[in-house]
Amino acid sequence: MDATTLFIIGIVAAAGLLAIGVFTVAGGRPKDETGITAPLDRVALQRDRRARRERAARSAAAVAVLSPPETDEEYDGADEAPPPVDPMLERTAVSASQLGVTRRGFFNRALLTVFGIFLGQFAIAGLAFMWPKLGEGFGSPINLGNLNDLRSEIIQGDGSIVPTFVASAQTWLVPMPENAIAGSSFEGLPVVIGAGGGEPGLMALWQRCVHLGCRVPSCVPSQGFECPCHGSRYNFHGEYEAGPAPRNMDRFAVELDDADNLIVQTGQVIETPRASTKTIQYPQGPSCV
Ligand code: FES
Repeated sequence: MDATTLFIIGIVAAAGLLAIGVFTVAGGRPKDETGITAPLDRVALQRDRRARRERAARSAAAVAVLSPPETDEEYDGADEAPPPVDPMLERTAVSASQLGVTRRGFFNRALLTVFGIFLGQFAIAGLAFMWPKLGEGFGSPINLGNLNDLRSEIIQGDGSIVPTFVASAQTWLVPMPENAIAGSSFEGLPVVIGAGGGEPGLMALWQRCVHLGCRVPSCVPSQGFECPCHGSRYNFHGEYEAGPAPRNMDRFAVELDDADNLIVQTGQVIETPRASTKTIQYPQGPSCV
């Protein structure tokens, strides 16, 4: 699965999570705009009315006691006077939008905001992780220099191999003889470049151990790569030899530019299975771990 596919999957996943969050929160909000006329609110309203009537009655009685009628006319009209009107009893229902932000609405919006911020951060971090690097550096094509210069640097006068490590590409450069390619795990893959005319090609092995990702150092005495973490071993073609590693060392696609410079496509990692037939002898001397 390449970086573009991962990127698209990330976008779709983030959009799906956002949609689920919005519908979940929005679905919990009251659909009835006249929120305070809901059953629970009517019960509360009736209780309020009753309490206010009782208070109004007590007030009227107190006024009557403090201000007794002084004339016969007042005595006659006292029983006919209308009871005092409590303005609070003349309350009318208002809609939720008229009422403003309800407590439920406030919490819903707060929850949606927090969820949105979290989702946004998650999406940005995910995209930053999956976004293919288009500039220079690891993840993009890296020019390692002239093929012949690299080859002579790696292959010693006695025929032994001293792999060249290129930190910017996280790569061990190793030679691959032309006659060893056919029938190997690498046949038909763009992982060997420059083989021909009796000269070996070069391969770019990823320094990362395929077991749990430790950096794998080379071991010139044994002519292999030996992982110090859990003891996985690979020969100088990166083929699995021993230990818990599940496959050969991973490698990058390679190509030559017009000036015979080796270009390593560090964004294009190629995995190969453990090889039943090895293309180079290992060990050729004492181990380093
Ligand atoms: S990380 Fe290399 S053997 Fe485990």
